[in-house]
Amino acid sequence: MSDEFQTKCLPVTDKSLEWAAELLKGGQVVAFPTETVYGLGANALNEEAVGKIFAAKMRPADNPLIVHLYDPEQMPDLCIVSDRTRRLMEAFCPGPITMLCPKKPIIPDIVTANLRSVGIRFPSHEGARALLKACNLPIAAPSANLSTRPSPTRALHVLEDMQGRIPLILDGGDCQVGVESTVVDMTGEVPVVLRPGAVTPEMIAAVCGVCEVADSVMRPLREGESAPSPGMRHRHYAPRGKMTIVCGNAEAVCRRICDLYDQSGAQKPCILSLTDHIPAYAGRLTLDLGRDEGALAHNIFALLRRADELGIDRIFAEGIADRGVGLAVMNRMARAAAFDIEQV
Ligand code: TXA
Ligand code: MG
Repeated sequence: MSDEFQTKCLPVTDKSLEWAAELLKGGQVVAFPTETVYGLGANALNEEAVGKIFAAKMRPADNPLIVHLYDPEQMPDLCIVSDRTRRLMEAFCPGPITMLCPKKPIIPDIVTANLRSVGIRFPSHEGARALLKACNLPIAAPSANLSTRPSPTRALHVLEDMQGRIPLILDGGDCQVGVESTVVDMTGEVPVVLRPGAVTPEMIAAVCGVCEVADSVMRPLREGESAPSPGMRHRHYAPRGKMTIVCGNAEAVCRRICDLYDQSGAQKPCILSLTDHIPAYAGRLTLDLGRDEGALAHNIFALLRRADELGIDRIFAEGIADRGVGLAVMNRMARAAAFDIEQV
């Protein structure tokens, strides 16, 4: 499959959107920008087209896809929309949130990996919205990386993973948010965040009165335990170099990371550091995470890819507080580090 296509990467214009919409209507797969990460889209109502997403990504068939829409009016055809879900939509859509709702039979089982709920998301990125409107189809789309690779936040990342595997990548620039949408299960008594993102549990609770966070968000699954969100079960976001996160008081973290780095015996170790702490690592290879959790969210996947490009075989990363969007960042970093987290 790998050289089936000459993959084109085009800026979002009326012309490229028209071609992308034609491809989608014809049952092909197209990568497109969203405000979170790039998505790999196909017609959600066409099983064969959706099958091509799983093939291009090498994604396990038991990991369900999110369905992307541009108009709230499209939603009741696809799933059951509760009043609470409607309020959530009014507050945060379009935006970086995915709501799990009881699915209607029109959604093929391949999209939801046979689950009874479907994830619905209204991306806010103008390019994504224009594409959804141009094709006028519900678009199933996971992140546009190869399975287990960090999610792509630039068109170039998509090209790295998808060259020869899909016909077209729409280039809409750097993704603003940088981590994937908040996944919130709206099918039970209480909204439950299964994957944290830029819409925080606090923000959801402010609208719904209550919001829980699945406890699998910040710990590895136990042997034999089933994940509420199948994506959390699979190996994820992995850079090639083994990664360790160090959390705690800034000074102690810097000291510990210097020791770990100096004693690692690695060929090419690197440090992921907050901007202000970089001078503390003088003489060591350091990549800049940014100044705050928003910058970290924006940068983290690009940095994990950068580490791979540089041939890094060992990564030491500063942890941050898991508040606000920091929870989303730590959720992704913890998985990248296979939960190798030290508290100092
Ligand atoms: O920001 C995003 O959500 C991006 C952009 C492209 O929209 N998409 C994305 O999709 O991150 P993906 O497939 O890489 O991650 C979707 C996550 C997976 O962990 C999946 O298991 C979970 O959402 N998920 C989707 N539908 C589900 C369902 N019905 N029940 C439980 N988990 C579900
Ligand atoms: Mg993904």
